[in-house]
Amino acid sequence: MTDPDYQRITVRDLLQGLLPDAVSVAVWGLDTTDVELEAEEREAIRRAVPKRVDEFARGRATARFALAQMGWAPVAIPVGGHRQPVWPDGVVGTITHTGDVVAAAVARASDVSCLGIDVESGVALPPGTDGLILTSAEQTDPAPVHGLVRFSAKESIHKAVFPCTGVWLDPLDVEIGLEGTRFEAQPVHQRADAQEADALLGDLEGRWTAVAGCVVSVAWAGATGA
Ligand SMILES: CC(C)(COP(=O)(O)OP(=O)(O)OC[C@H]1O[C@@H](n2cnc3c(N)ncnc32)[C@H](O)[C@@H]1OP(=O)(O)O)[C@@H](O)C(=O)NCCC(=O)NCCS
Repeated sequence: MTDPDYQRITVRDLLQGLLPDAVSVAVWGLDTTDVELEAEEREAIRRAVPKRVDEFARGRATARFALAQMGWAPVAIPVGGHRQPVWPDGVVGTITHTGDVVAAAVARASDVSCLGIDVESGVALPPGTDGLILTSAEQTDPAPVHGLVRFSAKESIHKAVFPCTGVWLDPLDVEIGLEGTRFEAQPVHQRADAQEADALLGDLEGRWTAVAGCVVSVAWAGATGA
């Protein structure tokens, strides 16, 4: 059993270490314990079960704390049509929650053009899910943790790529190459509707690490000219 605060501190340190300095990171339970929602956020989540409301509220509060660290006044972060958080103008950001960990990362769009983070509890993919998440080439990697790393990397990539391009990539659309704590993503096939996303994949920086019973991954692209 991992102590929640130990895991939170570890995740915050890892995210800060993996991401560029221009990114502000916050973790619920350490940086804030707020769960207040803005009116339009409450409306967006009004039909959800209490556990989901809790997770959503922690994510919004944590994101507001990350924004405050950059000097941003408290602001609502609405929910987009594909569940993506809608950030204030001039900001890119991303939220993740798993188990006891809720984290958010934000940056000025003048420094970072797109940003995704993901934390997954565990050390391997659930049995029977490999074929839904990993391409056949990825499945030949024998290290169990690499399956979960690739899953997390794909979630980080989705969170970075979708808000920037409006392109919805599925896990089997992308192949993840791992080298040390870096990862890179290649499109598996040429989807006519995914050209913008495929081009962005080539600009993304990817990093991951696994510790304290979880996998942490981040993906970002620097702003042009930053
Ligand atoms: C959305 C998704 C990426 C992660 O959701 P999850 O399993 O609940 O995992 P997390 O807790 O880490 O992340 C959830 C957060 O991601 C963010 N998110 C959800 N949809 C998003 C989108 N389309 N774009 C950007 N961020 C999104 C939200 O902030 C959400 O939290 P919130 O609803 O409380 O605001 C995943 O469920 C999904 O839809 N995957 C399919 C697409 C995919 O993974 N493709 C791989 C491409 S390589």
